[in-house]
Amino acid sequence: MKKKLVSMLMASAMVMALLAGCSGGNAGGAASSAAPAASSEAPAASSEDAGEETPAADGAVQVGIVLPTKDEPRWLQDEKSFSDALAQAGFTSQVMFSQGQSATELSNVEALIEEGVQVLVICAHDAAAAGAAVQKAHDAGVQVVCYDRLITGTDAVDYYVTFNSFAVGVAQGQYLIDAYEGQTGVPLYLYAGAKTDNNAFIFFAGAWSVLNKAVESGQFVVANCPEIEAYAGQELDVDADHATLDTIIGTITTNWDFNVAKTLAEGNLVANDADLKGDVAILAPNDGTARAIADAFTADGDVSSYVVTGQDAEMASLKYIQEGKQSMTVWKNTSTLAVTTCDLVNAILSGGSVATTTTYNNQNVDVPSVEEEVTVVDAESLPGLISDGSFSQADIDAAE
Ligand code: BGC
Repeated sequence: MKKKLVSMLMASAMVMALLAGCSGGNAGGAASSAAPAASSEAPAASSEDAGEETPAADGAVQVGIVLPTKDEPRWLQDEKSFSDALAQAGFTSQVMFSQGQSATELSNVEALIEEGVQVLVICAHDAAAAGAAVQKAHDAGVQVVCYDRLITGTDAVDYYVTFNSFAVGVAQGQYLIDAYEGQTGVPLYLYAGAKTDNNAFIFFAGAWSVLNKAVESGQFVVANCPEIEAYAGQELDVDADHATLDTIIGTITTNWDFNVAKTLAEGNLVANDADLKGDVAILAPNDGTARAIADAFTADGDVSSYVVTGQDAEMASLKYIQEGKQSMTVWKNTSTLAVTTCDLVNAILSGGSVATTTTYNNQNVDVPSVEEEVTVVDAESLPGLISDGSFSQADIDAAE
């Protein structure tokens, strides 16, 4: 790590930040010396941004943030939430995007180490591949906080800040069960996230923890995943049944890609006869894939209606919910998670004790973690969340 002297100005901004914290509401004087976060896709871009966006007196960036891609609205929400929370607390930070490439992720981390960051907050593109990047950060004395996605198979992670991903899956699965309460033989289409993302396993295991009983009871008939039928009536554990989950998810993965999701759904519909259509239930792992899959089901004349899940409360999906094209989403409030992360960063930088609430095993070590809860949003609850200011109708209307 390139050691940089912290200037008097920087030191005082930090002290004020430490006094103010991140969740303390009014950051007082710290906010005035706060640094808006710079943002760039590739390391070289940081110098372009420097004039306006790297305000630390000696140019030091305290907190480096690496997010997986700009191509999904979810991560742009996180970028904004981080920039607001860290700047409010007076930390200098820089956000970089990996654009779905582990090589870019690694070079982003290297650039941030060069910048002299003290804490790296990273949401990995590929859980296993990112081990090399965080090892470099650790070797340079940088504290590593996994954000939303856990990096696996390494001991070079210090903390993990996440939503309760198992609860996301449970909420999705339970929504489908409740929607078809009292019915039998309802075709169930299952889709999952990317196998490179540890969360995809947790979401799916969460959903299956409730769906397995509904398949066993005959409420649902799995329509597109023969590999899972043997597990009717049986939960699949993220750790103990990882290899089984890997095989199953491999057959129904969207790779978090809208086009893959649409093609997969279209292929499933072409392969199935009308008896596996009609009124159907669809487990879609997140909003982007939900919209793509919903479009494919809408286009099939033998599908009379569908209930489809989602995740992230993207504006485009809230619009789909209002238009009756998506049934639900799971809202993960990125502002809350950014503030939680910021509090953690604050504790790390001040040398104070870092409050964690649980641990996650990353197939190497138990990582001290903080876990946030999630909220189900559907056509019934959305109006209340608009009137209480959680979402803005204008933003929903503006969504593409
Ligand atoms: C996140 C989801 C997101 C997905 C695709 C997951 O790791 O938890 O919120 O939709 O990645 O980017």
